[in-house]
Amino acid sequence: MPQMCHYKNVKNMEKRNKVAQTVDMEAQFVHLARLALAGRANDVELLSKRILNRLSDSRPDLSNEIRNVLKESAEASEIARTKAGSSPLPVDFDSRLELLKRENAPSVGVHPVWSPEVRNELETLLTERERSDELSLAGLSPSRSVLLVGPPGLGKTLAARWLAQQLHRPLLTLDLSSVMSSFLGKTGSNIRVVLDFARRQPSVLLLDEFDAIAKRRDDTAEVGELKRLVTVLIQAIDEWPADGLLVAATNHPELLDPAIWRRFDRVIEFPFPTKDEIEELLNDLLGESVTSAMIASISSILVGKSHADITREVLRAKRHAVLTGEEMSALITNLSVKKERGTLKDRLVLAKELRSKGHSEREISQRTGLSRQTLAKYRVQE
Ligand SMILES: Nc1ncnc2c1ncn2[C@@H]1O[C@H](COP(=O)(O)OP(=O)(O)OP(=O)(O)O)[C@@H](O)[C@H]1O
Ligand SMILES: [Mg+2]
Repeated sequence: MPQMCHYKNVKNMEKRNKVAQTVDMEAQFVHLARLALAGRANDVELLSKRILNRLSDSRPDLSNEIRNVLKESAEASEIARTKAGSSPLPVDFDSRLELLKRENAPSVGVHPVWSPEVRNELETLLTERERSDELSLAGLSPSRSVLLVGPPGLGKTLAARWLAQQLHRPLLTLDLSSVMSSFLGKTGSNIRVVLDFARRQPSVLLLDEFDAIAKRRDDTAEVGELKRLVTVLIQAIDEWPADGLLVAATNHPELLDPAIWRRFDRVIEFPFPTKDEIEELLNDLLGESVTSAMIASISSILVGKSHADITREVLRAKRHAVLTGEEMSALITNLSVKKERGTLKDRLVLAKELRSKGHSEREISQRTGLSRQTLAKYRVQE
């Protein structure tokens, strides 16, 4: 009798599972329809794969059919992608100049140094895309738009390129400061053409110098035209397809219309590098050629400078060192450090290093910003 009972229980359980699966499949169908109607091709693909796996035992015929549909669609989108990668870029109607820059296989070429907050934000953007099927089951899509904010040279353009590289997407760049023509009507139609072009292909679109539009707001004669332009941009941000990524970069966030700010899924603020981050940057730029004590002391003196300025100065010094045959001393004497920066300890380390390379006390005083008396006082104590 107990055995009979067990058998009945198992049967009931199987029945319940079957009903649950059917209900689940029906829910999946509703979800699939919602995704398809919203044009979220990537999510439709992921969900179809999931359904295909579920059906493989109970309905192998349907499962195979879905597999074939997915294969055909992958081939078709590959062809479309190849075509898009070589399709002509939109041009300005009058000048015939290209409005966009396209990098099909973007590469950053340097080791990016991010603050922990920036790194976290950028990596979250990637994670959301990697795990978009989980988001999609919760009715969500990955972030589609991001605004990068910060002073020049802190890696905003680099971040857009890095994202495109990590996502294996072409990078399309529209420099808004160069597309702003003296006729706003023409600017508007150029921007519309670019947005339509970028929307049609899976890519990362970078709207660089995003504040260029806002700067025109004081021109009252064109208020109406500018409003239309802002509306076009707001719509583009709102409706950007989930398999693309819209990145905007600005040095002047305060000039942006708050209505635009609010539209972005994420806003990332880029800070000046800290001493530790400068050390990381210098380690990468200088490698083994410099002692770590030296890198630490230079880093402290360079605090307050942007990644771009530091990179430029180090490369200039390295070039100089190669052409003149000089080594570290050349590098140091060519770095235009800010005299008021760096702790006394770091500047004394630098002074000692310069002295060991045979620099005169006058030169050392100039490079470290320490007076000859201070140098002499600490030299006695060494
Ligand atoms: N975070 C970083 N890590 C490593 N190198 C960097 C970083 N930021 C900038 N650089 C160096 O500086 C160069 C210029 O940086 P980038 O063009 O990304 O700055 P930006 O923030 O876009 O400046 P702008 O506001 O002037 O456009 C980069 O190509 C790179 O060599
Ligand atoms: Mg830039």
